[in-house]
Amino acid sequence: MSESPVILKAQDLHKSYRMGATRVVVLKGVDLAVREGEFVAVVGASGSGKSTLLHLLGGLDKPDKGHIQFRGRDVNRMSARGLNEYRNETVGFVFQFYHLLDELNVLENVILPAMVSRSVVGWLLARHQARRRAVALLDQLGLQERARHKPYQLSGGERQRVAIGRALMNQPTLLLADEPTGNLDSATGNGILTIFEQLHAAGQTIVLVTHDERVARRAQRIITLVDGKVRT
Ligand SMILES: Nc1ncnc2c1ncn2[C@@H]1O[C@H](COP(=O)(O)OP(=O)(O)OP(=O)(O)O)[C@@H](O)[C@H]1O
Ligand SMILES: [Mg+2]
Repeated sequence: MSESPVILKAQDLHKSYRMGATRVVVLKGVDLAVREGEFVAVVGASGSGKSTLLHLLGGLDKPDKGHIQFRGRDVNRMSARGLNEYRNETVGFVFQFYHLLDELNVLENVILPAMVSRSVVGWLLARHQARRRAVALLDQLGLQERARHKPYQLSGGERQRVAIGRALMNQPTLLLADEPTGNLDSATGNGILTIFEQLHAAGQTIVLVTHDERVARRAQRIITLVDGKVRT
């Protein structure tokens, strides 16, 4: 069987944060490559830089040094428009604390990325289709009865499923998830991991960050961050 192509490649990533007079060095030369369709888990102790790395991969922050390439294009050399497109359409991001908008209902939260990526006219033309896709995603995630609820009316597991629906709305090539089960009890977390496994089986490329080895074992491959680098 031939291996699928590498779609995401990070080379020699360095990142530090300034905290007043001191500097916290987090990443000290991270290299990694993710193939199309892979389900990769990134593990490491708390503070090892997992979230930092995921934010860099998703174009939400910039490395001090090093390169990230997506299908051969350097993410940090994209135009503002290219970078927006990368963040909003190429990548789907699932956060540990969901980051849903409480003023919007479940359906509206899921549709939002489709709205953001279009002009007013484009949206008027696309909204029926976007709505159908959002409804189908809610069905797939077992949330059909929750479409009109507000996020604060939902359980943690339901909120995380909404956040997954939102991340999938624009059919991202790459799904990035930061501790998606970190706030859930183990049964609920299991349900979320099953969703990731199903997405992977359907061909979705996934990078999931976790400090929990049991969660990581559900992935196809595990990358460990130690001392600011990938343990080889
Ligand atoms: N914006 C920031 N400013 C200053 N320091 C930061 C910032 N973001 C992260 N750090 C520091 O960088 C280090 C790595 O943080 P990061 O959030 O990437 O770790 P993590 O592996 O995701 O940890 P956890 O498992 O607890 O989520 C930590 O020491 C943290 O305090
Ligand atoms: Mg983190």
